[in-house]
Amino acid sequence: MTPSPAAKAKAAPHADTRTALRSALGRFATGVTVIAAQTPDSHVHCMTVNSFASLSLDPPLILWTLRSRSARYHTFSKTHAFSVSVLAETQIDIARKHALPPPDGFAHRDWKSYLGGCPIIEGASAHFICKGHTEVNKGDHVILIGEVTDFAEHHHPPLVFMGGKYYSGSSLKPL
Ligand SMILES: Cc1cc2nc3c(=O)[nH]c(=O)nc-3n(C[C@H](O)[C@H](O)[C@H](O)COP(=O)(O)O)c2cc1C
Repeated sequence: MTPSPAAKAKAAPHADTRTALRSALGRFATGVTVIAAQTPDSHVHCMTVNSFASLSLDPPLILWTLRSRSARYHTFSKTHAFSVSVLAETQIDIARKHALPPPDGFAHRDWKSYLGGCPIIEGASAHFICKGHTEVNKGDHVILIGEVTDFAEHHHPPLVFMGGKYYSGSSLKPL
């Protein structure tokens, strides 16, 4: 029997289609952020994320997406507060470090930099502190929507990510 169009749409994409979709999505240039949260045992958990986006100015809301099967899922979905540090172009090593699977680059103690009670990455281009969040489950990711309670802008040129590669924000040419 031929599957209905709806059934076809729901089936997992063929590996080649998946790779092609991933590549096409990679044409969308983004900044690079590190999301950080502190657990009650005082460990700071960080994760490199480029799905960050602004959602609303009134009320001030941002969002990012987290892979549901990520080893970091329980930490970030349970947290009451998290920070978003928009990385500067000088922070590529930080981006790489916090994209490593646990235990490397996962939990840290004796964190030095905080804003609004939340751990942040020092030297970043901007910081957003979010308290509370709403979670929306979709496909293999969850959308985490946070309300911005504090923020700071530092004007360091940003780190840019496109097609699986990092670029320096200061070498971008205005058109
Ligand atoms: C530039 C970049 C952007 C990323 N963006 C996301 C993201 O938006 N959401 C996500 O779940 N993982 C993202 N990742 C993957 C995580 O940083 C990390 O590598 C991944 O969660 C692997 O660890 P895990 O086992 O905890 O999932 C990104 C990685 C890189 C290098």
